[in-house]
Amino acid sequence: MSKTDVRGNPVSHDSAEPIRRLDHVTTLMNAFQADPIAEVDALLAEHPDFVMAHAFRAGTLATAGDKAFESELAKSVAAAEALVGKANDRERLHIAAARAWLKGQFELATETWGRAALLYPRDITAIQFAQFGDFFLGYSQMLRDRVARVLPHWDKAVPNYGFLLGMHAFGLEECGDYAQAEATGREAFALDGRDAWAVHAVAHVMEMQGRAADGAEWLESTSASWAPNCMFGYHNWWHQALFSINAGNVERALKLFDEKISAGGFASAMELVDGSGLLWRLTALGYDVGKRWDDVADKWTTRAEDGYYAFNDLHAMMAFVGADRRPEQKALMAAAERAAESLGTNGMMTREIGLPALKGILAFGNGAYDETIERLLPVRGKANRFGGSHAQRDVFSWTLAEAALRTGDRSLAEGLIAERLAQKPESRVNLAWDERVCHLPGRLAA
Ligand SMILES: [Fe+2]
Repeated sequence: MSKTDVRGNPVSHDSAEPIRRLDHVTTLMNAFQADPIAEVDALLAEHPDFVMAHAFRAGTLATAGDKAFESELAKSVAAAEALVGKANDRERLHIAAARAWLKGQFELATETWGRAALLYPRDITAIQFAQFGDFFLGYSQMLRDRVARVLPHWDKAVPNYGFLLGMHAFGLEECGDYAQAEATGREAFALDGRDAWAVHAVAHVMEMQGRAADGAEWLESTSASWAPNCMFGYHNWWHQALFSINAGNVERALKLFDEKISAGGFASAMELVDGSGLLWRLTALGYDVGKRWDDVADKWTTRAEDGYYAFNDLHAMMAFVGADRRPEQKALMAAAERAAESLGTNGMMTREIGLPALKGILAFGNGAYDETIERLLPVRGKANRFGGSHAQRDVFSWTLAEAALRTGDRSLAEGLIAERLAQKPESRVNLAWDERVCHLPGRLAA
């Protein structure tokens, strides 16, 4: 007999207890609380025929965006497909989405979870996986609209409504609707204080509006409720480090790196992205980050040749430049060139954004600042195509501003710094750049 989960979605399992356990795992995932994979593994050990649990595990591993999890993803997809005869239509969509991701078709995967959410608008697992997909694809509007279109089917009485609002808040922020994003994120946090994603959405608003003091206070004052057991804490602390840098406190940013951002040992690509992203910003400004690059570069080395996701590759290249790892730089570039030939989503990302971006970062490391500008400037405006958030992709503008100053390209430096000051007039980074640009001679016409 068909049963339902706590939100009324059909689940193909005969007994209620494992379904309730999957509800619990879903909440852990929604809240970014450790550890959904460990919990679902325990559930599957007892109920190996629970098809939705296999599909949940597959989606969780897929949307980690990390080649290191691919073999486990493949196992879950195979296990789910072996049970497809028992699966209902919703579960079949989940299985098909995970299969598409495994094949490197990230758009198809995301739209397949999106279809599940259209048909079952209270399927918060489908909504969340689709939001991760939209994030990896840089689909700002879909981060907002894929949530907006299911909202009419929800209200406060539906379990995990707050987490849905947290997802909506992030989408609103990425679309630049900062006031509504902040209000929605705060509402979500008030409904469930574990909601690290809602906290993150509000932090993004403050980052984009240049409210470094507000952002620092927000993350600190809320951390007692979201930080314990949080799988995503490193990233909220990365945002805290950005607030510190913009407030002129580099020492605090490095302390956050040492104590919080690196706390998980850089076990996943997303943690490594944050480690690289932070150290790169500081290195580009000329700060000595000591030996910190070495650990990050070591951890990236195992992923240097995987050609999995161009956004990861960019951050790996930062580490290989920061730690001066020439063989790894070459290996990564060769892997990216191979990836650019491939048909999947990452082939497009690598061709359009990844390769020029890697070359631009490499050129920066070699002191070839004109080449950095030549490589990065044409892709900066379309860098959303390889995913991430506006705050993460700001590394393009950051690197370009520093390159323009170093090579004496006064008009570009002035323009880039004016853009930044318009958004963040109080940022100590922007003000320091503005001071430096005043000392540049005007560039003579050739
Ligand atoms: Fe973020």
